[in-house]
Amino acid sequence: MSKKKVVLIFVLGILVGALAGFKLGIEYNLKKINNAVLVQEESKATIAKSKVNEQMTKLSSLINNDDNRLFELVNKDNILESSYIPSDLVYPKVNCVISGKDNRNLMRRTAASALEEMFNAAKKDNVQLYLNSAFRAYLTQKAVYQAGEQNSTTTGDYIARPGESEHQTGLAVDICSKSANYKLDENFGNTKEGKWLLANAYKYGFILRYPKDKESITGYNYEAWHYRYVGTELAKYLNDNKLTLDEVYNQIKLTKK
Ligand code: DAL
Ligand code: ZN
Repeated sequence: MSKKKVVLIFVLGILVGALAGFKLGIEYNLKKINNAVLVQEESKATIAKSKVNEQMTKLSSLINNDDNRLFELVNKDNILESSYIPSDLVYPKVNCVISGKDNRNLMRRTAASALEEMFNAAKKDNVQLYLNSAFRAYLTQKAVYQAGEQNSTTTGDYIARPGESEHQTGLAVDICSKSANYKLDENFGNTKEGKWLLANAYKYGFILRYPKDKESITGYNYEAWHYRYVGTELAKYLNDNKLTLDEVYNQIKLTKK
């Protein structure tokens, strides 16, 4: 073999060796990067999970230590005692359909101040809201239900039986607008006022209590006008996760097991 050939084979050998080493190096680095990404994703998921757990713990403690009955679930299965009348009912300083000191304008103190704040914020956005009906004592609800029974066949889907209405808590309020002729019907949800409420109510601690597509969970038809005060923390959680109050109670029950 000539000297030239030996040198050529030697050089080629070195080149092949270098290329193989280079390939191995790349593979090693890619593996390292992949592992790092995996670890990062896993720790992101762990952080997200622990955040959800932390939030659920906070909400459970809020709901389980609700001595002031601000987060109470009232529905067809969770019924109020007929004698229950909140002791801190006040008249919120907002526009009302029935003017003056009518019992239907009453709300619990905390909910009333939150309502004032919400109506004032709406006004700043050129949205005029009206309180249509808030507190209803057990016997008032009974009368409303019986009147509904005489006039319609859908009472149980729209009007709660006495003891089953959130209006008795002084934390619920039916809201309307001039644009919807001060009426409580689905059309309110399509007005500027109804849309503003849907988008902003949670910031003031209110939730749309009977949303569309949740009828089978809440037990009531969509009510674009019925808002319930639950405080800003719970309202934000429900709004962010598109949940009803009934659902969060179920989640908390499940995490307890
Ligand atoms: N419209 C709601 C369900 C009530 O009567 O309380
Ligand atoms: Zn209502």
